[in-house]
Amino acid sequence: MNIGILGTGGVGQTIAAKLADIGHAVMIGTRDVSATLANTTADRYGNPPFGAWLQAHNTIRLGTFAETAAFGEVLFNATVGFGSIPALEAAGESNLAGKILIDISNPLDFSQGMPPSLFVSNTDSLAEQIQRRFPSAKVVKTLNTLTAPLMVNPAVLADGDHDLFVSGNDAGAKAAVIGYLRDWFGWKRITDLGDITTARGTEMLLPIWIRLMGTLGTGMFNFKIVR
Ligand SMILES: NC(=O)c1ccc[n+]([C@@H]2O[C@H](COP(=O)([O-])OP(=O)(O)OC[C@H]3O[C@@H](n4cnc5c(N)ncnc54)[C@H](OP(=O)(O)O)[C@@H]3O)[C@@H](O)[C@H]2O)c1
Repeated sequence: MNIGILGTGGVGQTIAAKLADIGHAVMIGTRDVSATLANTTADRYGNPPFGAWLQAHNTIRLGTFAETAAFGEVLFNATVGFGSIPALEAAGESNLAGKILIDISNPLDFSQGMPPSLFVSNTDSLAEQIQRRFPSAKVVKTLNTLTAPLMVNPAVLADGDHDLFVSGNDAGAKAAVIGYLRDWFGWKRITDLGDITTARGTEMLLPIWIRLMGTLGTGMFNFKIVR
């Protein structure tokens, strides 16, 4: 399948590398291809610059957000929260129309330092803002409650016995995404929370997720629902 991933950060790279490894045709999208390739500085976590990563993953193509959205039959949004709607606007409404858009973004506001707050919460969510702005896209929120390496390899933690959530208005799109999560990444415990408004709940897990990361000293953990 042709898959378009909007976002060149750790999440975009992790999803892209995994999907290319299992044989999909992958394009990863950025605001400015030349500027992204010209960047020679490591990211804020010390990871190599994007161009070095791309050289090591030479089946993956790099394009603008619009080229990437046009290329993908299924799309991922892995852009910074405050940049997600601008990135999707640059991708172009017509390139999103009718497609599944798997939204991994979180509405984190770092403007007052750490820990970040949420710039939308309680009565709305970033996923809903995206779905309202692009009504013809089939937005499915998922994977936003995990660190990137766990998204594509849940089995490394407790043999995959931990939970993932999906939210979205389109039942067919959610069923397809649940299948992708199982087949591509090996997820076993996936709960369909309901329509896109349920993304308020998973986005609002971030404040506790961030504090757990601080306390545990690692992002390699997840929530497990027991009843
Ligand atoms: N890191 C994790 O483990 C993790 C886990 C769960 C969820 N998330 C969420 O996943 C998303 C991606 O996270 P990340 O850490 O991979 O990368 P990130 O640094 O949050 O986002 C990088 C991407 O955002 C784009 N971007 C930055 N500012 C923009 C703007 N003003 N307008 C449009 N696009 C802009 C960048 O474009 P360029 O390519 O042009 O630079 C880049 O493609 C975030 O929403 C994050 O909260 C992250």
